[in-house]
Amino acid sequence: MNMECKIRHWEMEDAPKLAESLNNRNIQNNLRDGLPYPYRESDARDFIKAMLDADQNKTFAFAITLDAIVIGSIGVFRKDNIHFRTAEMGYFIAEPFWGKGLGTSAVKQVCHYIFERTDIIRIFAEPFAYNTASCRILEKSGFKYEGTLRSNALKSGNILDMKMYSLIKE
Ligand SMILES: CC(C)(COP(=O)(O)OP(=O)(O)OC[C@H]1O[C@@H](n2cnc3c(N)ncnc32)[C@H](O)[C@@H]1OP(=O)(O)O)[C@@H](O)C(=O)NCCC(=O)NCCS
Repeated sequence: MNMECKIRHWEMEDAPKLAESLNNRNIQNNLRDGLPYPYRESDARDFIKAMLDADQNKTFAFAITLDAIVIGSIGVFRKDNIHFRTAEMGYFIAEPFWGKGLGTSAVKQVCHYIFERTDIIRIFAEPFAYNTASCRILEKSGFKYEGTLRSNALKSGNILDMKMYSLIKE
């Protein structure tokens, strides 16, 4: 089943739904460290405020919605110095909505937006090597697997490989 989501800018009213979805170890285990757990509505408000206040030429952060309800988050973050025309993408979908094609729909829409509206020429993502669902999303969205970054992270006490995927503006 391939469902389509919508992406839009964050609104402060999204905090309860964002907190509900991110207060989940199955999601946080696949993201970078630094998120509070439990993840509360106040944490969600802090995040939304940070996204709204951020430099709009460097931070492209979107709520993922289905029937106008927030079901996830996706962001593209510009790098600096010689990498200023590259950007890293991160995303998650709330667990009850996994496996419906929504993550793929969000990634495709955001990449289209970035290449249309900014001068970024390379979008990359680095899922943990075991994160098959995320790797699959990237492949389905046209990203190319560039290689495995061996022992590239320490997450929950485990040393993990990561996979580098990128999409280049054609
Ligand atoms: C990764 C994540 C975004 C996937 O979202 P989703 O909406 O379920 O993804 P989609 O439905 O678009 O696509 C998932 C694909 O992975 C496949 N997949 C899922 N779990 C799998 C597994 N264990 N083994 C093999 N394939 C798997 C699905 O079958 C699907 O591929 P298909 O369309 O070819 O069948 C979601 O699980 C999530 O938020 N996880 C936690 C956070 C995270 O990992 N973020 C990414 C960090 S890089």
